[in-house]
This record gives sequence, C-alpha cells and structure tokens, in this order.
Amino acid sequence: MTPGNCLFDMTVISGSPEETIAAGERLGESLKPGSVVALRGKLGAGKTCFTKGIARFLGIEEEVTSPTYTIVSEYSGKIPLYHIDAYRLKGDDDFAALGGEEIIGGGGVSVIEWSERIPESIPPGAVIVELEILPGGGRKISIRAPENHEYSCY
Ligand SMILES: Nc1ncnc2c1ncn2[C@@H]1O[C@H](COP(=O)(O)OP(=O)(O)O)[C@@H](O)[C@H]1O
Ligand SMILES: [Mg+2]
Repeated sequence: MTPGNCLFDMTVISGSPEETIAAGERLGESLKPGSVVALRGKLGAGKTCFTKGIARFLGIEEEVTSPTYTIVSEYSGKIPLYHIDAYRLKGDDDFAALGGEEIIGGGGVSVIEWSERIPESIPPGAVIVELEILPGGGRKISIRAPENHEYSCY
C-alpha cells in the first residue's frame, strides 16, 4: 500500500462499547462482497464488539458472538458475513486446511480476529484494524484501508 493512497487511514477513540460498535458500522459502509477486514489486538480489546457493528451495517439481526470455538461463523445479511477467529489456529497452514481461501474468496465480507496468527492468509487489499485498550479503559481503533480494497482481495 502506498502512503497517501488510502480511503481510510484514521484513528478513532472509543469511549464505550456502543462507540466501538458504531466505528464498525461506519467501516461497514465501505465494504463490498470479497472485502476482508483483519482485526488485531489482544484479548478484550474489542474485536468482537467492532464486528457487531459491521454486522449491524449488513442488516444482520442474529447476535454476533465470538467464534473462538467454532473458528468460523457465517451470518446472512445484505452480504454474507464470515466471522473468523484465528486464536486457536496454529497458523496459515491450519487456516488453509479449514478451507480458509475458499471462505475469504467466497464473495462475503470476511472479518478475522487474531489475524496476526495467519499473516500469509490476509490478502494485500485487506482493511487492517488495530484495537488497543487505553489506560483509562477506552479503546484506540486504528483503521487502514487501501483505496481499492474492495477489488484487490484476490
Ligand atoms: N470503548 C470501550 N470502552 C470500554 N469497554 C469496551 C469498549 N469497547 C468495547 N468494550 C468492551 O470490551 C469487552 C471485550 O470486547 P470484545 O469485543 O469481546 O474483545 P475481543 O473480541 O477483542 O476479545 C466487551 O465487554 C466490550 O463491550
Ligand atoms: Mg473476540
């Protein structure tokens, strides 16, 4: 990604879970079939909460919960949402064995928690979202997306 060639390169300070959801919802507006959102941040940072916002934008009414044990959850909305949690995966090979490439290339919006664990599986066009817990308890959410992210996923 070339600097300056960004649709998003922004930092949001979220003061509450609802604001974290709202930030996800706002990102949702720019997503298209095939978009990949790679979430980074430690346990409790707000990755699932942010995903709830993306789901809200997609019109998903079903409650979005952490896919830690299922690894992949699929929700149907305006565009299908594939919610992936890579925490329990050993790495890229493990993800590939689960059919990761087919999921990411499946025409839905793929949102991946613990994306750091499967770096080779994240397409270059992915939106990168880093969530950090601030000393006061709020969250710093940094969002970076290449301008053409919706087309450059495969
Ligand atoms: N800005 C915020 N301030 C305080 N709590 C927040 C904020 N954003 C999210 N949370 C809360 O943090 C907790 C952990 O969030 P979660 O999305 O489950 O984290 P992760 O998926 O990264 O482990 C949830 O209870 C969520 O509501
Ligand atoms: Mg989570």
